[in-house]
Amino acid sequence: MAFTVAVVVLKGGAGKTMTALALAEAAAEAEAAATLVDSDPMGGAVRQAALAEETGRPMRATVMGLAAVDLPKRMGSITPGADFVVIDGPPPGALKIAKAVMESADVVLMPCPARPGDLDRVPATLQLAQDVGVPVFGAFNFYKRNTNNAAAAEELVIEYGVNMLDTRLIDSTKVSENYGLRPRGLVARYGRELLDELTRKAAG
Ligand SMILES: Nc1ncnc2c1ncn2[C@@H]1O[C@H](COP(=O)(O)OP(=O)(O)OP(=O)(O)O)[C@@H](O)[C@H]1O
Ligand SMILES: [Mg+2]
Repeated sequence: MAFTVAVVVLKGGAGKTMTALALAEAAAEAEAAATLVDSDPMGGAVRQAALAEETGRPMRATVMGLAAVDLPKRMGSITPGADFVVIDGPPPGALKIAKAVMESADVVLMPCPARPGDLDRVPATLQLAQDVGVPVFGAFNFYKRNTNNAAAAEELVIEYGVNMLDTRLIDSTKVSENYGLRPRGLVARYGRELLDELTRKAAG
């Protein structure tokens, strides 16, 4: 069975799609048969994979769209032969899909914007994962060292009891400029670090 990571936080614009693309690409680069399942009805990951293909540097991971509440039942047939699967979680309103995505996964990776105002949906995300019975790891995104936002966010995740990874991604235009490209530079490195830390801490 494939090891499956669901990238979910019930907050828009937190970096779910960027993180899912980076992680899936890192797995494919490490010579795993990696598949990214895009559960967002808007298909943001599928779109970015298509754009990357047009540049002549296609994603090495297989990217497919499937926004369905019966995802857990369909996982085996949509990802035959995959040994690493990443599911890009849906936007915040699609609660039933978010639940189905978590039910399909071995672990939830929760991007946490390192700005206190953007962590408001973290408790609800943790609660959903607890209801489903899947472990959660958080990873800071939009991190700005030595700022009040970073300090406040660090305190909040402790208060919420989030199991945070050491891997984090800074706030940088280099990240947004990676839109529609195969992950490169610091985004590619973020994917590799996530893969390494998640594999050690979750896959055992
Ligand atoms: N660390 C970062 N620094 C700068 N920009 C970032 C960073 N992470 C993500 N972004 C940008 O923020 C925007 C939102 O990211 P992304 O689409 O991955 O979020 P999302 O959680 O999938 O959003 P949605 O809920 O709409 O699906 C994108 O334009 C992305 O390029
Ligand atoms: Mg998205």
